[in-house]
Order: sequence, then structure tokens, then C-alpha cells
Amino acid sequence: MNISTNENNPNTLKLIIAAKFAQQAITIKTVQPKASFLGYLPSIEFPSGLILFSTNAAMQFIIPSSEEFKVVNNKWLEWEISQLQPAIALYGSTGIYKTSQKSCLWSLLKELNNALKDKQYLIKDNIDLSLADICIWVTLWSTIMVTEIGNELNKEYLSIKNWLSNIELLTVIQDSIKEYSFERGLKAILSIQAASWFPVNATLNSKPSKPADLSPTKEKEIEAVSQEEIWNISNNWSSKSYPDVKNFPYPVLPKKGEKNILITSALPYVNNVPHLGNIIGCVLSADIFARYCRQRNYNTLFISGTDEYGTATEAKALEEKTTPQNICNKFFDIHNDVYRWFNIGFDYFGRTTTPEQTEIVQSFFLKIKSEGYILNESVDQLLCEFCDRFLADRFVEGTCPRCKYEDARGDQCDGCGHLVNATDLISPRCKVCGNRPIVKKSQQFFLDLPKLENKLKEWSSTVEKGWSSVARVVAKPWLRDGLKPRCITRDLKWGIPVPIEGFENKVFYVWFDAPFGYISITKKYTKEYQQWWKPKDIQVDLYQFMAKDNVPFHAIMFPAYLLAANEDYTLLKHLMATEYLNYEDTKFSKSRGIGVFGTDARDTGIPADVWRFYLAYVRPETQDSNFNWADLATKNNSELLNNFGNFVNRALVFVEKYFESKIPAIELQEDDLVLLALAQRELSSYIHALEQAKLRDGLKHVLAISKHGNQYMQFQEPWVKIKGIDNDKRRAGTIIGICCNLACLLSSLLAPFMPCTARELRSQLGLQTNNYGYIPDDITSILPTGHKIGKPSPLFKKIEEKDVETLRKKYAGKQDTTNSDEHGDVKSLDSAIAELDTKVKELKAKHDKSGWPSKQVQIFVDLKNKLSDLISEKNKSSELKSKNPENFVPEQNGDISMDVASLEAAITKQGSLVRQLKAKEEKSVWQPEVEKLLKLKKQLADLTGTTPAPTDKKSKKKK
Ligand code: 2FM
Ligand code: ZN
Repeated sequence: MNISTNENNPNTLKLIIAAKFAQQAITIKTVQPKASFLGYLPSIEFPSGLILFSTNAAMQFIIPSSEEFKVVNNKWLEWEISQLQPAIALYGSTGIYKTSQKSCLWSLLKELNNALKDKQYLIKDNIDLSLADICIWVTLWSTIMVTEIGNELNKEYLSIKNWLSNIELLTVIQDSIKEYSFERGLKAILSIQAASWFPVNATLNSKPSKPADLSPTKEKEIEAVSQEEIWNISNNWSSKSYPDVKNFPYPVLPKKGEKNILITSALPYVNNVPHLGNIIGCVLSADIFARYCRQRNYNTLFISGTDEYGTATEAKALEEKTTPQNICNKFFDIHNDVYRWFNIGFDYFGRTTTPEQTEIVQSFFLKIKSEGYILNESVDQLLCEFCDRFLADRFVEGTCPRCKYEDARGDQCDGCGHLVNATDLISPRCKVCGNRPIVKKSQQFFLDLPKLENKLKEWSSTVEKGWSSVARVVAKPWLRDGLKPRCITRDLKWGIPVPIEGFENKVFYVWFDAPFGYISITKKYTKEYQQWWKPKDIQVDLYQFMAKDNVPFHAIMFPAYLLAANEDYTLLKHLMATEYLNYEDTKFSKSRGIGVFGTDARDTGIPADVWRFYLAYVRPETQDSNFNWADLATKNNSELLNNFGNFVNRALVFVEKYFESKIPAIELQEDDLVLLALAQRELSSYIHALEQAKLRDGLKHVLAISKHGNQYMQFQEPWVKIKGIDNDKRRAGTIIGICCNLACLLSSLLAPFMPCTARELRSQLGLQTNNYGYIPDDITSILPTGHKIGKPSPLFKKIEEKDVETLRKKYAGKQDTTNSDEHGDVKSLDSAIAELDTKVKELKAKHDKSGWPSKQVQIFVDLKNKLSDLISEKNKSSELKSKNPENFVPEQNGDISMDVASLEAAITKQGSLVRQLKAKEEKSVWQPEVEKLLKLKKQLADLTGTTPAPTDKKSKKKK
């Protein structure tokens, strides 16, 4: 055994005594406290390579206590290190005792004296006296017994006095004192203070001495590594084996007794291109989690797809003048492409317009009905006779019955903010053709949610603990406030037909059919899909990822469908909802060109992995968060390039340059164990975070490991050691071998977030790149001595400030260029005219004029009139524009006074902008435009001396 000690340290005497009892040979080397990583001395190295610097722990290793005395022995050992030594250290720091300090030491001595009453030893263990006797004896004998306190003690505490002198007489003690001679008293106390791993100065409110500043940036105080952490690391390093990642053959199926993780991400609608917020909210979060699970050898299935039915698709089809199925095909490809580019590793990416979906939805409905959970009721609905369709809420507009705002939607009025019933709108109009619909009764099916309430509550109470906080917050009021029956059928054409006689012309409501998409898409993946969804005797954990607006449908509706079917379907266990991601402090808006959407990301030239990294870094895990270009560049340059990339690259280049690309031999020392213990902490936190899909937290722990690695390398200076004597060279090898092993661990931990980068790093590490490596619970040696690495090269590129500024401008939208956009307003008139024109043509083509019903003749006449109005308006506005292009789009602040014609034109233009925005965007986007419209109308009323429209009055009152 080799002991390294600073000068004059009584703790070294303890080790020597123990070694003599155990008849073990020792060597003693005197070193400076600074020579060790945290300055902890003495340290002892065992022939096995184990190094310990807690003297008391080392003593237990040399002479294990008998089971009988273990507890009491440990209690006294701890008392000595955590109470007696700090109390004595006070003496060392001050040289004199203050009364309070003295009484603290005195009460400890009294305790000891009582314990020793009528006893030869404190504990009589298997070497006669115990480890506790040795340790306490050494501390007292070498410190206070040669001071004034010692004299007092001899008078006051006779039991201690006798015990001390008895032990001193033992031959083994005498021999040890001779072998390690040192100065007792103050100097001994100072020596303990200088190199103890235990905070001997704690009572003075100061930290134990630390030779090196571990954190140059002083971000946070790192808590000292405990002896237990060191112990675990040194045990695991060479003895624990590093498992392989499983090869999951197709199809992945759940297995009894194993972890089986079924992951879904919400199925996006096919009416738009996903933006960055959509991507991190659903598919990317689910993908990171799925990759993590696979690297933990969990049987993992990750499925998603497009949600293709519903009015969103129909509206888009109308807008693009094509069929809903064409829209689905087009947008399925767009979504699929975007997700492939982002490297989303679905096991299957499907869609809901499939025979499997129809079959599953219809049979679920019939089963739920047969279980008695379906009600049949008659409801009033608006029917547009001209379009021959019942109008979904999003297809009807009219005047609000409360505030008389003219453009209220079928579900809500944007003038007063109240919810409205489409059938209550005054002068309702079909949004497609502008005609007035009629109210018609219609039979619909409802899900009897009140009847399912108890089942839902029971289930929910068992799982909600595993949900993200926003998921809990959103879901709670639903069950708390009581559930109402919910209509699950619609009088629409685009959807899954209701398989009941008399309902042939109805389809299922999209939120009834869509969630079954998870099951039908699994069926597309494997015919054994029931093993995931209806497992027998196998535990399957279902994780569902989505943005917060989808929570009620997954927390209440989908579980309700499955519970109603009463067939033990796999129910949601972990509801992983996110808040929203903003774009540069505003909302993403496709129509205004604000934000980065789908393929835009590819066009920026920034690699998919960097996008993935940054989106995970700002993932709106607990509150809305923000995408910011400058921040993206900063995080890329500081965290990826300077921190992570720098660490792994330095390690690999060093091995290539000085060790012929082969991992050198590693002989662990204390400093190394401390680094590994710090890394172990981060690894444990990473796993803890990722098990709960706290991805953002998890990523930060990856970066913390490379930060520790960088600081360790900086402190150890292997580039200096490699130029020294043989010993130093070997030391440099150890340091770099450890760094390469950490780089290897990091490649696995980073892989869920940045799979391509991880693969590249693994290739540079000379590893197989057909997997990303297992994510272990404990740090062990992964790369053996002699392992040949590949060719190192930088993993990341700097993102320049000027480049992100260009990108920021590019995706900032058209809002600040509206005034100079030559075509904006004319375009909207143009498209309105074109739309009407087509309608007229269609009408003509469909019907022979002589056979038109009178109503349709009227419609035709109206349309023609509208068309000619629009054309003359268009001419007027182009005229105006050519006269005074600057004035065409009016300033909204009222500085520039306009004539009636320009105001009217502006109102028309603004009205059409508002309508367009409302069809596609959230309220926060179109509300400001509504305000502008109201202002314009008021200006016109002021100018013409007419009474302002009711909408203006109301909006004034509101303010
Ligand atoms: O919000 C949406 O985009 C929906 N299409 C999500 C559906 S998730 C699932 F239930 F299909
Ligand atoms: Zn209509």
C-alpha cells in the first residue's frame, strides 16, 4: 500500500497503525496538498489500484469491522471525523479557545468520557481495540493533549486519561509513532486542516481548502465529491461491464418482463406546413425520447402520421381549389419530407385516410355503442342549400347576437370575445358562397361522457403524476367541472362514414377518428399491432407527445373511447405536453411569412442536428419559450463549438499525436476519480431527466459533462506532462485516456439529440457506427487500452453574426414591408375576382340556364353584380395607386387624411386581409388587424358625417 501525505498529518499515523495490525507493508511519500486534485490527504493506494482519501474509510478497508460492532464502530468513526476534528480545528485556526468553542469541544469530550467509563476500550473489536479507538486516540493524542486543554482534560476526564495512556503503551502504537514522527499540537492541527476532505473548518463558516478553482466562470459552487461517490466510481470503472445496445429486429414487439415503450406524437393536420414550434412540440420531442429509450435497450415503438379528415382539410381544399384527397397527398409528402430532413426516426409514419383506419374507427364505434355509451340526439344545424352542405363552425360567419359585430365566426365573436352558437348568428352567411344558410334539424351521435366519468377519474388518478406540468394543468378542470355528452358525428362529406342505417350521409367528427390513427398506423407497421395496443400479461407504457392545445383530447376523449370499448386497451401513461414556442418574441405566421417553417430550415444551410440541438435547448417544457436567431448562434458557438466540440476534439487529437491513435493505459488517481464522480453526477441527472422526458434538462447535463472535462484537462495540463519524465508521460496518458472515454460516453448521451453528430463522433472514436452506444447508469471504462481511434476532425462550425442577421431578416415576415409591397392589395382583389369568376363558370357549366331554379338565378345575378363591383373597385384602386402610390395604403395613425374613395378601398383591403387571416391564424395575429379595420371604418364615418357602424360603437365602449 502506498500512502501519500502532506507533512505532519496525524491521519497518516492512523493508516500506519492499521497497516501494522493487518501486517501489510506500506510506503510513505510526502507531497504537497496542492499536488492532488482537491488537495485531500493522506490518500492511500491499494494494490488493486483503488485509491481512497477518507482515512477512516481506508482503515475499514484495511481492517474490516466484525458485523457485531460495525454499527457502533461507524458511529464513533463518524463522530471523530465530523465532530471531534472540526471542534479541534477551531483551536488550530485561532490559537486560543473562545468560551463557546471550548464548551463545544468540552461537551464532546464529556460524551467520550461517559462512553469509556469502566472500560478498557471504547469498543472491543476483532483486533482487541477497535478502529474507533485508534482514530479517536490518534486525534486527541496528536493534537490537544500537548496543549493546555490536555492538562485540563487529564484532571477532569479520568476515563479518557486512563484510556489514552493504556493505548499509548501498546507495542504496535509505539512502533508506529517511531515510524512516522511528527510534531504534535498546533502544527498537526494545521496539517489536518490543510488537506482534509472533510470540512474541518465548517464551524468557522469557511470551505475546506481547495487548491484549484474548479469553475473558472464561477457559475455555481460545485459541491465537494463525497467519499461514497469516489468509492462507487472506482468500483465501477474497471469491474462493471459496458453492455451492448440491442439490435431490434422488425417488427419491434413488447416482451414480458421487459420495458416496453410505445411512443406517439400528435398527428398533424394536413392544412399547413409545420413550423419549428410544431416540430419541437410533437415529432422532435418524441423522437429524442424514442432514441433515448432505444439506447437504454427498452423495446420501443415510435409511430406518428398525418391527421387527414376534418374541416381543416376541406377548407384547404377549397382554398387550393382541389379535392381533399389531393390536399392530403400533397401535405403528407410535405410533412414526410420535413421530418425525414430533421432525422425523425419514426418506426412508421402513416396517415388516417386508410382502409385500416376506417375499419378500426367503425368497429370501435360499434363496440362503444354496444356497451351503452352512445346517445342519439337531434341538433339544429346550419345548411347552405347553395353549396349543399351543413356548415361546420369554421364555414359560417354572421353578426354577433350580443355586440352586433358583423364578422363574428360560427363559434366565437371577435368583437366581444364571447362564444356564440352558429345558429344564433344574425344574418348568417356561408363563408364559401356568401349565401344565407337555413336552420335544419339533424340526428347526431354523442359519446355519453358523464357515464364514463368515474372510470376516467379512477384511471386518471393513477397516471397523472407522470404527466408534464402543463398537461396536468390543462386536464384538471375537465374532470373537476364535470363532463357533458359530446357530439362525435357530423353532417359532412369528408370523413369516415358512420356505419349505421339512416346515417349514411354523416361522418365521424375528426377528433373521434384521429386518435384511433395511432392504432391504425401501428397496424400498418405490423399485423401484430394488438400486442402493443391490447397486450396480454405484458406491461406497455404509452407516452404521448403533443402541444398543450391537444391535451383535452388525449387526457379525456381518447381514454374515454378506449375505456368505453371495455377491452383492456393500452391507455396513456405519460402525457408529455409542451407549451408554445414563439418566434423572435412573436407568433409564427405562415401567411405573413414570419418564422422558420419546414423546408426553410434546410434552406438556411444550418445542419439538421444544430436545429435539433437548439430546439431541444429552448424546448417550451414548463412555460412558453422563444426562438431567437442571435441566441441560436451563441449556443452553437459557445456550447457546441467551444464546450462540447473543443473537449472531444482536444482529446482525440492528443491521442492521435502522442499515442499513435491508441488509447493509452489508464492508472486512476484521486483527481481522475473526482472528475469521474462529477461526470457520474451529471450522468445520473441526465437519466433521471430523460426518464421523465425532460429533454431540455437532459441536454444541459450532457453539456455539463464536457464542461467538467474541459476544466479537468485545463487543470491537468497533459500537454505539459507529455514533455516530462516517464512518470509524467504515463500520467498524460491516463488523463487523455479518461477524456477519450468521456468523449465516448458523450457520443451516446448526445445521440438522441444530435444523431448525425454522434455518429460522426463515434466514427472518429473508431467505433462501429451502426448504433449509438448504450446509455449506462454508471460510468465505466468503455474504450480499452490499445483501442484504435479514427481520424479526428472538428464536429461543429461557427455561425457568424452577420449570417444570422441575414436569416433573421429573411424570416421576419412581410409586416414591415406591407406599405411598399406593390402587389399586396391588388393581389387580394385579384384573387377575390378570380374566385368569383370560377364560381360563375362552375355554375354555368353545371346547369343549363333554362333549368335553373329561381333561387339560383338570383344567386347568379348577385354574383355577377359582386364581380362587376370588384372589377370597378380594382380599376379605381389601380388608378389611385398610379396617381399617388405612397398614399395607397393609408397610414393608420390618422396623420394623413384620406378621401372617401381611398378610405373605402382601404377598408375593403383591410376587410379581406382580416378574413384571410382569420381563416388561418390565431387570434393574436388577426386581432390587431381587426382593430385597424375598425379605426378605418370610424375614419370613414367621421369623414362622411354618417353614424359609425354598430361595430365601431361597441368597440369604443369596450375600450
Ligand atoms: O392539432 C392537430 O394538429 C391534430 N391534428 C392532432 C391530432 S392528434 C391525434 F389524436 F390524432
Ligand atoms: Zn354556401
